[in-house]
Amino acid sequence: MTESHRRRRSLTHVGGAIETAGDSADAKALAYALEVPASLGTDFGEPLGKTSGPTEPDTDYARAHVHGFHTYPARMHPLTAARLGEAFCPPGGRILDPFCGSGTVLVEAMIQGKTALGVDLNPLAVLLASLKTLARTPESLEALLTEAKDCAAFADQRRKARAKPTRRYPREDALLFEPHVLMELDSLRGAIHERRKSPQGPDLALILSSILVKCSNRIGDTSTNTTPRKLAPGFPSKLFVKKTQEWLARLAEFAALLPSEKHPESKILLGDATKLPALPFHPVDAIVTSPPYAATYDYIEHHAMRIRWLGMDAGPFQRGELGSRSAYQRIDPRAAKRIWTRELGQFLTSAAPLLPKNGALVMVIADSSVGEIPLRAEEIVAATARECGFFPSARASQPRPHFHGPGLIAFRDKPRAEHAIALRKN
Ligand SMILES: C[S@@+](CC[C@H](N)C(=O)[O-])C[C@H]1O[C@@H](n2cnc3c(N)ncnc32)[C@H](O)[C@@H]1O
Repeated sequence: MTESHRRRRSLTHVGGAIETAGDSADAKALAYALEVPASLGTDFGEPLGKTSGPTEPDTDYARAHVHGFHTYPARMHPLTAARLGEAFCPPGGRILDPFCGSGTVLVEAMIQGKTALGVDLNPLAVLLASLKTLARTPESLEALLTEAKDCAAFADQRRKARAKPTRRYPREDALLFEPHVLMELDSLRGAIHERRKSPQGPDLALILSSILVKCSNRIGDTSTNTTPRKLAPGFPSKLFVKKTQEWLARLAEFAALLPSEKHPESKILLGDATKLPALPFHPVDAIVTSPPYAATYDYIEHHAMRIRWLGMDAGPFQRGELGSRSAYQRIDPRAAKRIWTRELGQFLTSAAPLLPKNGALVMVIADSSVGEIPLRAEEIVAATARECGFFPSARASQPRPHFHGPGLIAFRDKPRAEHAIALRKN
């Protein structure tokens, strides 16, 4: 990355000035992608107690159409995803996101008429991204609403009959839900389980997942703090139907944004980005992604309740999750930096053969810290890329300061930043 192009731009984003370096065309595109005006929404969570129904359109672009249906930690801003896709993948091209999470990059690529390929090791991410990007027919959507109403009616009937639970629940669930809420969710889960092989089964499971935190006493997805919540009998079933209607409305909004000729192709695979599985399309035109930030999140922990309720196998994710905070906190900070560098290298090595010469791999990634040691993403990525078949072309960086904890010490000399980095295949 040549420092001669270094420049500063003052922007209106809440994050402040964006600094760029490297190839000027790539750097300009990266800076534009990071420059998301606050008016276009920076709320990536789902406010508790609020369910936007079909009659409540979302003005916040971060939560627009399918993006806002289900929470997912550390989502990329859709505008960032759209701008990166536009700049680094040619019209009609194929984009791969190997850490696709909730599918933001894929959804935005499809709006641009591109083929979208996603990989993630989290089975919940694969369900969510697959259902967001799936082509639908009016009949299948109608059938979904009917099935959801049937599941809710079944749960209602069992509630009124004071039926016993269909299975034993672990202590975590007894602590998370009021007894009557747990019973009603159990009935909904039972009805969905009966339909698991029907074409609507995956959607019904996703809708159940989308109401679990709201029905629990947890204050949010990324917090284990609880608050007592009194929910009326029948609330979970009503919310389930309301969320189904919301899902249908959001899918329709997304469908209306797609190029009219045909639903663009998409494929989402469960897999490890450090050993990428065989893709149905090869090569791809660009890789646009956001790997887990080292030692920042525990995706497995955030999703443990949902994964348990949906009966998913989290084993491979538990063993292969990159950068997990709890894993990094258990090891010596210097070893953590070595592991992070090695894992990033494994990912880049497995991604390189998928791109043509000069093809772009663009990632959004933030600095992080382990103990008091900073892990400066742009330095680690640039050094690792050179050993894995790429050359660092450009970056744009925006401050994301830490004001507390060991991070305060780690970043005392140079503030923590979030980066959009473009690598080009050798
Ligand atoms: C920063 S998030 C991506 C969020 C995504 N851009 C979005 O907008 O929703 C990082 C993702 O990496 C996934 N992940 C962690 N370890 C992985 C691995 N070894 N292989 C593939 N995906 C992994 C996590 O499940 C998570 O979805």
